[in-house]
Amino acid sequence: MVSGAGSNLRAIVTACHRRQLSLHPTVVLSDQPTAPALEYARKEGIPVVALAARNYPDRVSWEQALSDALSAFAPDLIALAGFMRILTPAFVTLFAGRMVNIHPSLLPLYPGRHPHRQALQAGASMHGATVHLVTREVDGGPRLAQIRIPVQPGEDEASLIARTKMAEHRLYPEVLEWIAQGRLVLSADAVLQDGVILREPLVLEAPHEALATR
Ligand code: GRF
Repeated sequence: MVSGAGSNLRAIVTACHRRQLSLHPTVVLSDQPTAPALEYARKEGIPVVALAARNYPDRVSWEQALSDALSAFAPDLIALAGFMRILTPAFVTLFAGRMVNIHPSLLPLYPGRHPHRQALQAGASMHGATVHLVTREVDGGPRLAQIRIPVQPGEDEASLIARTKMAEHRLYPEVLEWIAQGRLVLSADAVLQDGVILREPLVLEAPHEALATR
């Protein structure tokens, strides 16, 4: 599920093409009919569904349409990749244990909007990205994995966003493959590794290109 540029979607689909990821993307769903991510998905021949909230009288009916559309594809796993709308507890419950999100911060630090700006304002020396289970708590579900990048001295927000995205593109496909392989197992409110609840996120090494200042 996407709302914007779709660089994470691209990383996921590319990993599928390279057989680094053994999932099959069945549908790309968006709340933004003109999102570049959808254009990319169409070019890739992946079915797309666009449901603009403004075409529905209220949030409940929009979410109903969203869940109907998703359910029609019977997804085993739903990856939010820059989906910019907050989903209600009812929606989350419907797909509990099947939905993950990527957030560009070292959660629990800086949930919500503008995490890079928040990190810079806080004078953070490390930043990064987290893949977490989607639960009722926005950006608050159990964390599956993180990737860390050092903040460069004097770095601006645009640079930190760009470097974090490079890290995200390594992190997300890898974590999805762990789920596909059963290395990580999702339940409604926990992540299990080898049958044991994962208390701390797994940590991946950042790709070389994400470490250099742009
Ligand atoms: C990413 O930074 C992701 O972590 C956040 O939204 C952004 C989406 O970027 N949730 P893209 O559309 O994948 O390029």
